Amino acid sequence: MKRRDFIIKSALAGAAISTYQLFPFSGIKKINGVGNPLRFPPELQSGESLIFNSANVEVWPGTTTQILGLNNSYPAPTIRIQKGDNFSVLFENQYTEEATIHWHGLLVPELMDGQPKDAVLPGNNYTYSFPVFQKAGTYFYHSHAHHLTAKHVYKGYAGFFIVEDDDELQYGLPTGAYDIPLLIQDRHSVYQPQFTYSPTMMDRMMGYLGDVPLINGTPEAFFEVQKTLYRFRLLNGSNARVYKIAFSDNSPFWVVATDGGLKDEAVQMNGLFLSPGERVDILFDFFPYSIGNSVTLQSQAFSGVGNQGTQLDLLRFDIVGSNSSGGIVPQNLQIINYYNINDITGTRNFVLSQSGMGSGMHRINGLTYDMNRIDEVIPFNQLEEWKFINNTNNFHPMHVHGVLFQVYSRNGNTNLSPNDKGWKDTVLVNPNETVQTLVRFNDYSGIYLLHCHNLEHEDDGMMLNIQIDAPTKFEDEQSSPDTFELYQNYPNPFNSSTKIFYRLNNQNQKVVLSIYDVNGNLIEKLFNGVQSAGTHAINWNASNCSSGTYFGKLTVDGLVKTIKLVYLK
Ligand code: C2O
Ligand code: CU
Ligand code: CU
Repeated sequence: MKRRDFIIKSALAGAAISTYQLFPFSGIKKINGVGNPLRFPPELQSGESLIFNSANVEVWPGTTTQILGLNNSYPAPTIRIQKGDNFSVLFENQYTEEATIHWHGLLVPELMDGQPKDAVLPGNNYTYSFPVFQKAGTYFYHSHAHHLTAKHVYKGYAGFFIVEDDDELQYGLPTGAYDIPLLIQDRHSVYQPQFTYSPTMMDRMMGYLGDVPLINGTPEAFFEVQKTLYRFRLLNGSNARVYKIAFSDNSPFWVVATDGGLKDEAVQMNGLFLSPGERVDILFDFFPYSIGNSVTLQSQAFSGVGNQGTQLDLLRFDIVGSNSSGGIVPQNLQIINYYNINDITGTRNFVLSQSGMGSGMHRINGLTYDMNRIDEVIPFNQLEEWKFINNTNNFHPMHVHGVLFQVYSRNGNTNLSPNDKGWKDTVLVNPNETVQTLVRFNDYSGIYLLHCHNLEHEDDGMMLNIQIDAPTKFEDEQSSPDTFELYQNYPNPFNSSTKIFYRLNNQNQKVVLSIYDVNGNLIEKLFNGVQSAGTHAINWNASNCSSGTYFGKLTVDGLVKTIKLVYLK
């Protein structure tokens, strides 16, 4: 069944309304029929356009909300793509403010990363295009414009980017109408029905915390479910609010994926923290419930400064039928090679501080963001330990671009919660906590970002530029840097073929590109001829070779440069 049919079908089933009754012992209720059916944004195919503009959409029934978003849709369209495909989209900025599209959690070249320095100005277009080679998972996209990220996201500029692959199918997880993305955001009821973004100085310090949850843009959302197993892809797209995800009757759910895709095993939990920018995929079984009852996905109360930590009802599930999804809870999922702390080549400390009131109050290592300054230079393909040291009483969800990393410990404790274990791009750093992570950049080199994903903190400057060095080359063969450059291969590592990029600065150069193994044996000559100035890309299909490290050797008019190629079959 296609999702659209499912929505129509559920809407019809909604006609059966019974009276409200709270079970005294649990969070299970009789369906009371109030609220709004959960919405789903339209889907967008690669090759289509995303147009940034303001639009009026119906968020609260009978009224309109002026959004700043993409394709007149709040949430922004959901993108679904197969691993191995190339994604491209024409971004058209038809609004009066600069903007970018950042592909959060996706491994993309620097110029496709949608950083503030690469803003698309009003009236301009930009084509984002990149190969999707990472694990299937729940990713997301949003604006990342300088000092405007928080406002744009609050006003509706965020959507899902879901990567699928054949590997995932083998586990028997629920699919189709039983695989439901849930974007969780909060809005201020005082401005209802508008998404007014007017943070006070206190909001800039704490984050702009709303009091009305919207799920996929739906207020007081309910979703009609069958007595069967579902997969929910939870994305915290809120500016600042941390949720303590749980069901109203405290029923356990299984965590199956973190930010960067499937975990190694499905683990049962009763509650977990989900901070801005983080995703978690859970499985939940409605089989034990009776038709006519409901159970609610909530954010449970927890202690936090300001109104962070207040209890909220997020989404009510009304049990309406007994169809089966055919999905199962698999015992083992995808193998994750956990990094070994003994393999680190260095340590970096990132001290998170907050002082005073006013712009620049949130800092990392005493610095506020300067797009023209490089704050850290990071070697390619080296495992490093990064410590986030939170010296404040606030929550800081720390996010890194261009990499998926692993959490190692919290305040020295390596016995981590299951949602910390797996591939991550955002990690919640609690008040006065030190979180130790293990990080290795092995996909792209170039300038990327490290920042707090509390968007008020980010816009206040709690963000650094990090520069990932180019892959290792043979030192003794480097020469004449200005006549040509050998600068990138992707994917890297790769599992069947990879593209090698180089730039020639002079016309009509004699070019030879060959592949060698680690012992210096010639494997294959990819190109031998004369080429003109400009950027060239040559594909190497390694399927006849064994896994391991190879070198691409580029000779231009007798001068040599080498690039390291990591082939993982
Ligand atoms: Cu989701 Cu740099 O951001
Ligand atoms: Cu990001
Ligand atoms: Cu922060």
